[in-house]
Order: sequence, then C-alpha cells, then structure tokens
Amino acid sequence: MGVIIKTAEEIDKMRVAGRLGAEVLRMIEPHVQVGITTQELNDICHDYMVNEQQTIPAPLNYRGFPRSICTSVNHVVCHGIPADKKLKNGDIINIDITVIKDEFHGDTSRMFMVGKPSIQGKRLIRIAYECLKLGIEMIKPGVRLGDIGHAIQTHAEKNYCSVVREYCGHGIGRVFHEDPQVLHYGNPNTGLVLEPGMTFTIEPMLNLGKRQVRLLPDDWTVVTKDHSLSAQWEHTNLVTDDGFEVLTLLPNSSL
Ligand code: MF3
Ligand code: CO
Ligand code: CO
Repeated sequence: MGVIIKTAEEIDKMRVAGRLGAEVLRMIEPHVQVGITTQELNDICHDYMVNEQQTIPAPLNYRGFPRSICTSVNHVVCHGIPADKKLKNGDIINIDITVIKDEFHGDTSRMFMVGKPSIQGKRLIRIAYECLKLGIEMIKPGVRLGDIGHAIQTHAEKNYCSVVREYCGHGIGRVFHEDPQVLHYGNPNTGLVLEPGMTFTIEPMLNLGKRQVRLLPDDWTVVTKDHSLSAQWEHTNLVTDDGFEVLTLLPNSSL
C-alpha cells in the first residue's frame, strides 16, 4: 500500500484518461431525458467507450459489478446498477464514469436533472457541487486531507445537508481505488500531507436528510435510510507544485 507519486509520463496518461472520462459525460448529457432507461444510458456509454474511445469501462466486472457505468437516481447514494427503469420528470441522477486508457484510470461523475426538478433537489445538487469545488480548490502541497474533509463537511452542514461517511474519494492511477482514502468530513490539521504528483478523486455524497445509508440486497445499490434525496459530483485531481490540476475537466472548461 502507500500513496503512489506519479511520474511525468504517468501524469500524461492520467490526463488522457481523465479527459476521456469527461468526454463520456459530455456525450451522454443530451440523452438524459424523461423516458430513457438507465440500461439504455449504460449501453450508449458502453458503446462509446469501447468503440469510439477504445477505452475500457472500469466498473464492468469490477468486484462483480454487472454494468459499465453507475446510475444513481433520487435517493440512491451511489453504485446504482443500470436497469430497465425509465427516468421520469423531476428525477435527479448521478452518472459515474470510469475509463481505463493505456492502463490508467479517469473517474468522474456529475448530476443531471430530468425535466423540471424540485427546488430542494436543485439546491442539494448545487450544494454538493460547491462542496466538490471548494475541496478541489484547497489542493496544494502541504495541505492535509483532514483540512479538505473538514471544509466539505462544514459547507454541507451549514446548508442543512448531511455528508455520507461510508464511501469516500480515493487515490487513483494504474489502480482504480488506491491509497489514500479521501474522506469528505474530518478535522483540520489531520491526515495525509499532500505532495506534488499525488492523484486522487474528491466525490462528496450529500443527503437532504440524515447521513445514514443502507445497502440493498443486490449488494451494490446504496440508498439513504430515510429515503431523502442524495447528490454527488466527482473529479480526478493532481497535486501540482503550486496547487492542483483537475484531470477530468474538458479542455477550456473550468470548475
Ligand atoms: N466510480 C466509483 C467511484 O467513484 C466506483 C464504482 S465501483 C463500481 O469510485 F463497481 F460500482 F463500479
Ligand atoms: Co471514484
Ligand atoms: Co466514480
């Protein structure tokens, strides 16, 4: 174990994988409409990854996961399995894409609103995004992971949202989930001290209600215990000499 510092060559490959992940999310956006099933979204992404990008969808068969993407709708927190259920007006959905290109992983997810969202759904999505953004913007050498977790937790709770504790961000590279664990809560001045060349995701999951979650009998789907709405955004990030680089942004776009 231990945190792997990436070389310049490895970082170049992470940039490519990251951009490809972002491109899948851009490609799927116009398809996220009332009436489409999450299985159809999966199939479109799968074909695009395998046939257009020549990337490997990392989730497929990962620890037995049966699909190529995760689709988490409404009170599903994460790891939703694409299925034959249609999206309906007012749904909120997270689509989580991880591609492998040239042995390296790019992992990114975002929220989509289907039709006309509720005011509260919209608010949750915004606060979750703000948590991701403020966490990323803290990244630089010398900062500690506890500082970032604390800032994310503080922003969420100040806005009456709760932070899921059971799942976290992670180091990423040749391995999908490697050290360190990146908690979205915590205490300042604790945890790993960031160094240039580290690559990890930040991917806060926020609930409108209580933070507790339950695992469905399929052994993958995580839902909020109180059935409140949940939202998540994710980027793969690099610690640079003086700050950060978001590897899963499209060229010429910003946070
Ligand atoms: N992409 C998820 C993450 O952000 C992990 C999905 S694991 C799977 O870490 F098996 F469900 F695909
Ligand atoms: Co991830
Ligand atoms: Co992910």
